[in-house]
Amino acid sequence: MTADLDRARELLARAERVVVFTGAGVSAESGVPTFRGPGGLWKTFRPDQLATPEAFARDPRLVWEWYGWRREVLAACRPNLAHVAIARWMLQRGGATLVTQNVDDLHERGAVEAALGLARQGCLRGAAAGVGCPGGGEADEAARRAAAFAAAESVAPIRLHGSIFHARCTRCGARREHRGRVDASNEADLPRCACGGLLRPDVVWFGEALPEGALRAAFGAAASAGACLVIGTAGAVHPAAGLVDETAGAGGRVVVVDPGETAYDGMADVRLWGAAGEVVPGILRDA
Ligand code: APR
Repeated sequence: MTADLDRARELLARAERVVVFTGAGVSAESGVPTFRGPGGLWKTFRPDQLATPEAFARDPRLVWEWYGWRREVLAACRPNLAHVAIARWMLQRGGATLVTQNVDDLHERGAVEAALGLARQGCLRGAAAGVGCPGGGEADEAARRAAAFAAAESVAPIRLHGSIFHARCTRCGARREHRGRVDASNEADLPRCACGGLLRPDVVWFGEALPEGALRAAFGAAASAGACLVIGTAGAVHPAAGLVDETAGAGGRVVVVDPGETAYDGMADVRLWGAAGEVVPGILRDA
């Protein structure tokens, strides 16, 4: 493993631009179920009943009940070492783009943790550098927190499949953050938009197109990247899964981290068989 770790570090350090592409596996150690692995959501639940526009039209109460449950599971989860290591590395090196298929908010929360840690060490780069000297008073701590939150925003992921903590109106299309508890006991109490339209989770369901802007930005970044670090995705769901081909097709290198088999194993320049929380910090330390 050590030789592979060194090789992965070398490939990433040599690439001017890097894309980090994540799937459900990066959040597995935080307690978030994956979809297709052991104990995966699609082993227990039927996607045609819960994750299609037709299912929502048929029974919005059932669909909201399920997303309400997933939100509660997520609320009890914390970012793991992989989420924090990715953000810390991106904040320190620059030139990296994070693309996720996940609808959880653990990358963003991991980025805040990473940025706060760097700010407290006085190591936050760029505009935030030196804000609030370590060990200073309350004002310094407030300045550090503000700088850390701004820095965390700068490494936020491109979301290909939306966000479970946002909702969209089925009538006017308005989108907004939506974190509250959902009372799905009857249809009349389901969340509604100011226009009166029924809100739906702002995630991409099977059979739906991906958000155009996110898709263009993600595939554009992948095509110009010298390396793609793939973490915790089986690579089974297109068009998102095609992102890695963009990098490989343009001569870029591919590093894959996953304890199980993936669709990318044949094209990987370095294949690291292990859990994200155990392997990723080692790859990204000083990379
Ligand atoms: N660390 C890294 N990878 C892991 C870990 C771990 N601790 N645990 C499991 N994995 C790997 C599995 O081996 C598998 O390859 O994570 C991958 C998860 O694959 P899927 O469950 O298929 O999830 P993902 O690839 O993200 O699914 C893609 O499918 O259902 C849709 O929209 C949904 O975004 C999702 C898309």
